[in-house]
Amino acid sequence: MAKPKRRYICQACGSVSFRWQGQCADCGEWNTLAEEAPETVFSAKHNLSGGGRAIAFEALDAPGEVLKRKSTGLAEFDRALGGGMVPGSAVLMGGDPGIGKSTLLLQAAAKVAQAGLSAVYISGEEAAGQIRMRADRLGLAGAPIALAAATSVRDILTTLATMPPPALLVIDSIQTMHSDQIEGAPGTVSQVRASAFELIRYAKENGVALFLVGHVTKDGSIAGPRVLEHMVDVVMAFEGERSHQYRILRCLKNRFGPVDEIGVFAMEGAGLAEVGNPSMLFLSGRDTPVAGSAVFPAIEGTRPVLIEVQALIVRLASGATPRRAVVGWDSGRLAMLLAVLEARCGLNFSSAEVYLNVAGGYRLSDPAADLAVAAALISALADKPLPGDAVWFGEVSLAGEIRPVAHAPIRLRESAKLGFSSAFGPGEAGGASDGRKFTALTLLPNLVDRIMGAP
Ligand code: TYD
Ligand code: MG
Repeated sequence: MAKPKRRYICQACGSVSFRWQGQCADCGEWNTLAEEAPETVFSAKHNLSGGGRAIAFEALDAPGEVLKRKSTGLAEFDRALGGGMVPGSAVLMGGDPGIGKSTLLLQAAAKVAQAGLSAVYISGEEAAGQIRMRADRLGLAGAPIALAAATSVRDILTTLATMPPPALLVIDSIQTMHSDQIEGAPGTVSQVRASAFELIRYAKENGVALFLVGHVTKDGSIAGPRVLEHMVDVVMAFEGERSHQYRILRCLKNRFGPVDEIGVFAMEGAGLAEVGNPSMLFLSGRDTPVAGSAVFPAIEGTRPVLIEVQALIVRLASGATPRRAVVGWDSGRLAMLLAVLEARCGLNFSSAEVYLNVAGGYRLSDPAADLAVAAALISALADKPLPGDAVWFGEVSLAGEIRPVAHAPIRLRESAKLGFSSAFGPGEAGGASDGRKFTALTLLPNLVDRIMGAP
């Protein structure tokens, strides 16, 4: 057998190279290549086309098991999962440090245990005493959770094999787990992959709902290889600004359901509280309208949420390079919108700094936000407040047209319910207006005239 070559694995994307380099050739990250032990290859035979066992095929409509979802005890968590946890599935939960992943899973484990199912919580990050203190603080000290601090996957699986499989198994976090079959420190790509593989296999074979906590790198992706995302059934992200109270639980991948529902929580003194009706959360609640602020009726899954978008424009003395800073929206999308406003509407942002903020630490992903952002930008540029009772929604094309978006009637209904009596949106949205004022806009210049032209 040939002498195994040294292997370097990018800790960000998992790609393999045989030479150390400062930058990963695949994902372009710097200083992410680390040496890991070579994989053993048992390749005595030339190919795989013979010598195996025959597999049996099944029909698609064969009577199989129906998904028997179980509740996590937290309605918002169930909602984000697409209706509860699925036995025999693996969920990867990512999120910034301190956002509340451990708190959420401890609360769910406690609820599951209180409902009479068995829940196991294994932490590789905190000592059992620390978790007990947190449970005390959450008022969950009495919940019959099986708690352990461990990092060896072999120890964990050996222990689990001696007891009936739990309904819920939490591993906090996968980066601290260690498999003794693989060389290398916990957290390296091979270790994370091997540990996750063994734990997921246990979960599938025993009908356990497995939740793996995953650390997140600074650009927001789950640390370790992308393969981890391929290995699990569900990938969730727990988002929010640490300085704000609200947390959004979002599904990024879901083999068992839709990915567009979100769960909304508020971090309080006694843990995460569920927010069943989030429509008013992301409004700042001022009485007098200010320039640069526009309200956007977003749709998250099936629920409408009103969100305030704030823009600030600072004129610069000529010469300096103006900054563009965005919190809660895509910066590429902002650049595009600014370009459209310049090219199609003749506005000039080139010598101005542009700041855009979405209230409450919310991250907007709905494409219909374009019109609200444009309205906020124009209002800030003109220094004219928008009407306090107005909402704005619609997608803006590169040609400056305002395009129809999904769920216009729900957006209008919810806005009206919360006291926003006038709405601006794409032409077709108007439909059934019962007393509400709807203004159809077809081109971005119409919007500019309307805001700039008002006395
Ligand atoms: P934690 O669940 O440890 O975050 P993660 O596991 O994602 O790193 O949450 C830690 C933060 O949550 C901590 O900074 C304080 C806050 N917190 C509360 O505000 N109230 C509480 O009841 C708890 C348990 C935590
Ligand atoms: Mg934690």
